Amino acid sequence: MSGQGAGKRPDTPVALVTGASGGLGQALAVELDALGCRVAVHYRRAAEHAEAVRAKLTHDAVVVGADVGSWEATREMYRRVEESLGPIDVVVNNGAIRRDALMAMQSPDDWHEVIRTNLLGTFHTSRVALPHMLRQRWGRIVNVVSPSGLIATAGQTAYSASKAGVIGMTRTLAAECGRRGVTVNAVSPGFMITGMTQGLPERITEDMARKAPVPRFVTVQEVARSVSLFLDQDCMTGQVVSIDSGVSVM
Ligand SMILES: NC(=O)c1ccc[n+]([C@@H]2O[C@H](COP(=O)([O-])OP(=O)(O)OC[C@H]3O[C@@H](n4cnc5c(N)ncnc54)[C@H](OP(=O)(O)O)[C@@H]3O)[C@@H](O)[C@H]2O)c1
Repeated sequence: MSGQGAGKRPDTPVALVTGASGGLGQALAVELDALGCRVAVHYRRAAEHAEAVRAKLTHDAVVVGADVGSWEATREMYRRVEESLGPIDVVVNNGAIRRDALMAMQSPDDWHEVIRTNLLGTFHTSRVALPHMLRQRWGRIVNVVSPSGLIATAGQTAYSASKAGVIGMTRTLAAECGRRGVTVNAVSPGFMITGMTQGLPERITEDMARKAPVPRFVTVQEVARSVSLFLDQDCMTGQVVSIDSGVSVM
């Protein structure tokens, strides 16, 4: 089929990891660096954490701050990454927030903020990077989702809706881009000890871990290792890979 098909993978792809200042994002940045990528280490507020991550990386890297919920801020971030490292070949949409409350008592602002950051943010970073990926006929988008996107947990309507939305976006964007060598997949981690889960009562988290088919928490390194699969596989697209101790089959 003329005019279609995959191009060549860049020798040292430029990979943006959003939320690389956070628990899983740090591990993803380190893993992508180990796989030969030049990493754009993104943060929202924790610049010093992002700088500490960059210090661990062996290839060229850049630290960039932005609110990915804003289209203008995301475009400006892309421009800064392009200036320092070149156009982005791999986007890992990892940055996200959680504002849990029963809907009947939840503030509309909180609900909106979760959707703006998690769902619109994933759209913005993917949208800004896609033209280059499609032009060069090689690109990777990896979205970090959650079992909460499919499984009901009281108090998580906003988070759940945002992650279910990202799963739908993953599948549909995969259908749009496959012919041009751009794959779009998602990884769904189980419970990990990170900033996002700090503060949850221990009796609840221990209980969750005990009930899972693999009765323990998942480590950020275990989830981060999945990116080599996404980078390597040209024919895997539109998939959600669960590394969740089996909670999604319960
Ligand atoms: N922890 C779990 O058990 C678990 C389970 C399933 C899925 N996940 C998913 O895993 C991913 C990573 O979460 P984590 O557990 O590593 O949490 P985390 O440590 O709280 O990290 C969240 C990251 O998101 C960034 N962020 C927050 N608001 C942002 C915004 N408006 N724009 C851009 N970035 C923003 C934060 O940046 P700053 O700190 O710089 O503000 C931080 O780097 C998320 O997508 C989460 O939904 C987590």
